[in-house]
Amino acid sequence: MTIQALEFYSGIGAFARAAAGFNIDVVEAFDQNQWANVSYEANFRHKPCSRNLDSIPEQGIPESDLWWMSPPCTPFSRRGKQKDGEDNRARSFLHLIDFMTIKRPRYILVENVSAFIGSNVHGLLLARLNQAGYRYAEYQLCSSMFGVPMLRPRVFIVATLDKDVAFNPSPPQKTEPAGLIDYLFESDDSLNCSPEILSRYEAVLNIVDPKKPGSYLICFTSGYQRCRQASGSLISEDSGTTRFVSPAEILGLLGFGSDYRIPQSVPQAVAYKLVGNSVDVRAIKYLLSEVLQLR
Ligand SMILES: C[S@@+](CC[C@H](N)C(=O)[O-])C[C@H]1O[C@@H](n2cnc3c(N)ncnc32)[C@H](O)[C@@H]1O
Repeated sequence: MTIQALEFYSGIGAFARAAAGFNIDVVEAFDQNQWANVSYEANFRHKPCSRNLDSIPEQGIPESDLWWMSPPCTPFSRRGKQKDGEDNRARSFLHLIDFMTIKRPRYILVENVSAFIGSNVHGLLLARLNQAGYRYAEYQLCSSMFGVPMLRPRVFIVATLDKDVAFNPSPPQKTEPAGLIDYLFESDDSLNCSPEILSRYEAVLNIVDPKKPGSYLICFTSGYQRCRQASGSLISEDSGTTRFVSPAEILGLLGFGSDYRIPQSVPQAVAYKLVGNSVDVRAIKYLLSEVLQLR
């Protein structure tokens, strides 16, 4: 049986990418970011619905078996003000939580930063899942658990009405970590970090030598190009320069596969934000196959 899925907050389509290996049909995607939708359409031949989810009516949500939701993490992130449910950027998710219990899709998957756990919105989500008769489990997954030389810890909540789901998957099949160098492409000067930026942000930058055995990158966020603290690692080159990791390299680290392309029309600064907001495709595949046992 084909699972009909909705991809809320679709961004560049990590869920659509993961779902491609399963008997899952993404019947609609939703994102208000026009550049994210340009990239999504170029890769999946479907233009996501661009309406603001804050006010989507119940009739705007098609019937489906599975909801994927990766709402903005800023209301919960330790780097933000942690306004939780009071943050306007949490409004759409609160709105969808209400509809979730009316629509009752068979499967619900939610992704967010680890600080989401224990927030008021997290408490509300679990309360609503309980009221609506769902069973659920929470998983802390990191790209490094899949043999990727990158730390990107995220929390995933998997809920279902299906009584057969056991929620006790075998751990991710950790392969021998590939060397960081294997994920990097030939670089050009456009990726170089200027000496001024290097000296201004020296105290907060994480600069990694990719040739050093066991070297890891720390997760990329949408603030990467602005060199915000803990927004992502930089690479030291043999030539003595320090450079940013490119959006295409970040896509590879996130498991998008070499045929995924962010169209050339998307400005570089926007591409960084889009990949920084995205999700590790391997983590989603793992939840679909090992937790939900979908094929
Ligand atoms: C954390 S990112 C999710 C990224 C996505 N999962 C991916 O694979 O790239 C959150 C996304 O939600 C979108 N978004 C945030 N608030 C929204 C709203 N109220 N209505 C529609 N989209 C929204 C943003 O444009 C952003 O692309």
